[in-house]
Amino acid sequence: MIKPDAVGAGNTGAITKMIEEAGFKIVAMKKTYMSKERAGQFYAVHKERPFYEDLTNYMSSGPIVPMILEKDNAVEDFRKLIGATNPKEAAEGTIRKLFAESIEANAIHGSDSDENATIEGNFFFAEIEKF
Ligand code: CMP
Repeated sequence: MIKPDAVGAGNTGAITKMIEEAGFKIVAMKKTYMSKERAGQFYAVHKERPFYEDLTNYMSSGPIVPMILEKDNAVEDFRKLIGATNPKEAAEGTIRKLFAESIEANAIHGSDSDENATIEGNFFFAEIEKF
């Protein structure tokens, strides 16, 4: 999911290009937004964290671009492509190093397991039964 900071800065195209050039097939993609309540549901796992309130405000502050991606070893390879959560710690050439503004406004989210990729894909693309 490309986050509001990167969408707002006009980086959707550049980030999508990097994703495709890294060998990912974009199976589904749309520009949409989350209400604060929906953002809270998406990040429910972080409910007890001190940054949860700020995170849900930020994630509902503007448009986002969720995608379903396909590739062998997709979860691990995508996390390498996007880089560390904190852009200050992200490796050179990663999406977060290039485009993230801060640890919160960090340009992009990637699922952390195949299981969560299915859950998060269904969260945005419930109409797609198989991907
Ligand atoms: P993401 O990979 O989408 O997963 C949870 C998000 O919470 C993370 O990216 C950041 O946007 C945000 N986040 C994680 N850790 C922190 C933190 N320490 N302070 C503020 N925001 C954080």
